[in-house]
Amino acid sequence: MLTTRQLSFSYQDEPVLQDLTLDFGRHAVTGVLGANGCGKSTLFMNLTGIVRPQQGAVLWQGEAIRYDKGSLRALRQRVATVFQDPEQQIFYTDIDSDIAFSLHNLGMDKQVIAQRVDRALTLVDAQGFRHKSVQHLSHGQKKRVAIAGALVMEAEYLLLDEPTAGLDPAGRQHMIAIIERIVAEGKRVIISSHDIDLIYQICDYLYVLEQGRLVNAGETAEVFMQREQLAAAGLVQPWLVKLHSELGLPLCKTEQQLFALLRQRDVERMR
Ligand SMILES: Nc1ncnc2c1ncn2[C@@H]1O[C@H](COP(=O)(O)OP(=O)(O)OP(=O)(O)O)[C@@H](O)[C@H]1O
Ligand SMILES: [Mg+2]
Repeated sequence: MLTTRQLSFSYQDEPVLQDLTLDFGRHAVTGVLGANGCGKSTLFMNLTGIVRPQQGAVLWQGEAIRYDKGSLRALRQRVATVFQDPEQQIFYTDIDSDIAFSLHNLGMDKQVIAQRVDRALTLVDAQGFRHKSVQHLSHGQKKRVAIAGALVMEAEYLLLDEPTAGLDPAGRQHMIAIIERIVAEGKRVIISSHDIDLIYQICDYLYVLEQGRLVNAGETAEVFMQREQLAAAGLVQPWLVKLHSELGLPLCKTEQQLFALLRQRDVERMR
């Protein structure tokens, strides 16, 4: 279980995260939601010990994490991060080598590495461009390679920082399908984003941050029904929730669900 207890973090003297007590173990997919600069990426860096809180703690299985090299390496095998910018975590020009890198570091058997790399590339639909050089990949393809690089660790937790940032509509839809696949594998996923519609569709539980403070927490639909509270945090309701609160349409989780319902209504009306 990954949690934080009264965690506060500052860059030099600038407070960025304040008194955060969060539990990421209770739900399959937890969203961290907030406007630009509210501290989402900084929170993720705290969760895997890239930076260290000045007050409070990050806890793994109920114990405060330790910051020696060995402990952090062990933690990052259980909690893998996909950074906001894929350039931040792709080091090789060859995709296979890049993804296998962390496993080689662990001294894993070559055959096992090959199997894991192959599986991760399949999961993110990257087999089709697997043999390309990384510098020739599109931004969306690089994002998928970065996810594969985290998936090979077979960690229990996957932190996805802005997984849909910079993707076109088709790329975004594809990314959602990939995340759903990862969730179906039984991992705990934490997603940070200001892509409200993505968060609404994918997350079970939300933490809303405003300038590093927790301003709301709850089941996804419950949080998104509070329009004014969202606006105060610089956010808006997902369009499916707006249709519900403005027009009284049923609250649907996906557009497919809504369209099916509306079609059904039409059929019933014509009878
Ligand atoms: N290395 C750094 N040194 C000093 N301040 C930083 C550093 N990195 C981030 N900050 C500041 O910390 C605050 C939180 O930044 P962070 O990147 O965590 O926000 P975010 O919620 O991820 O934003 P975005 O939605 O744009 O990704 C911002 O005010 C930012 O300017
Ligand atoms: Mg960020």
